[in-house]
Amino acid sequence: MDIEVSAVGMGCMAFSHGYGKIPAEQYSIEAIRNAYAHGCTFFDTAEVYSPNLTGIGHNELIVGKALKGIRDDVVVATKLMLHGVNSGNIYKTIRTHLEGSLDRLQTDMVDIYYLHRMSGIPVEEIAEAMGRLIDEGLIRGWGLSQVDVDIIDRAQQVTPLAAIQNIYSMVERDCENSVIPYCMEHNIGFVPFSPIASGLLSGKITPQTQFERNDDVRNWVPQLSRKNIEGNQPIVEMLKIFAEKKNATPAQISLAWMLYKYPNVVPIPGSKNKERIIENLDSSNVELNDEEFIALEKSLNELKVYGHRGLGGL
Ligand SMILES: NC(=O)c1ccc[n+]([C@@H]2O[C@H](COP(=O)([O-])OP(=O)(O)OC[C@H]3O[C@@H](n4cnc5c(N)ncnc54)[C@H](OP(=O)(O)O)[C@@H]3O)[C@@H](O)[C@H]2O)c1
Repeated sequence: MDIEVSAVGMGCMAFSHGYGKIPAEQYSIEAIRNAYAHGCTFFDTAEVYSPNLTGIGHNELIVGKALKGIRDDVVVATKLMLHGVNSGNIYKTIRTHLEGSLDRLQTDMVDIYYLHRMSGIPVEEIAEAMGRLIDEGLIRGWGLSQVDVDIIDRAQQVTPLAAIQNIYSMVERDCENSVIPYCMEHNIGFVPFSPIASGLLSGKITPQTQFERNDDVRNWVPQLSRKNIEGNQPIVEMLKIFAEKKNATPAQISLAWMLYKYPNVVPIPGSKNKERIIENLDSSNVELNDEEFIALEKSLNELKVYGHRGLGGL
């Protein structure tokens, strides 16, 4: 399945959830439209992205409004959660979730429809239902999030996958072992979430940084405990030095590194700040050469990472 997108996509979650206070809706809509004007054609949302994860669809409604008029020029990915559903007509259940997303996104088709997390339902049943939705033209492709290669392979046998969305960054590299190679081999896109390690790799977070009290994932992201921010400073310092040499920012280097490393990787950095969204998209203009990439890899392999979220994490 070939779905073409810009080299870097945009994670829209923080307009609704996860990084403290949310911006005014109009600001979020403008930020998404600016990203599109800057060349971004890949937008990531989920039905559960709402303040404090209560309610459904806050983020999809924003994305739907922002993409009005440009929907046909972009790729929209959203996700459904099936927790608490153990049996019954899985196709019907998934279709009901999808219809809600289609309404909120103001569209008649979702480009990539992910299962947000595995629950008790065998992945084969999910894959079969997704296959029916593809045949019906309601989704173009489907994907899974936070899954290992065994699950991916079982799913792939039933209905080939368009994308896998797992955590991946310079400090979360588990997927290099088998998930990304499997995806490459099977023509599946790999979409890293939290590619800047929730801000750590921007170099803007210090042990003194106060995260917000309400709805801020940085309070539990393992690399961002006060002690681990300190422990991870050598990685941040290495990135800062590298960034200066390349006339780029540390966040851009962290993204340029994964773009260089794999042809099938499309990161979806998240930000609720218009300028930083553009900064992150511009990482696709930061060109690394072989020598620079090897130097980065070497440094990363030598430096210890403090804190690990992995595939088992939230
Ligand atoms: N599938 C899943 O289970 C799952 C889980 C989490 C996220 N996601 C998706 O992945 C997207 C990205 O993940 P994420 O937002 O958790 O992590 P991220 O992109 O690694 O980091 C976001 C954090 O980094 C900061 N930041 C971003 N760019 C920056 C820059 N250039 N300079 C300084 N700070 C910067 C943001 O702050 P500011 O807002 O202040 O710029 C925010 O605090 C989400 O929007 C969502 O669509 C999916």
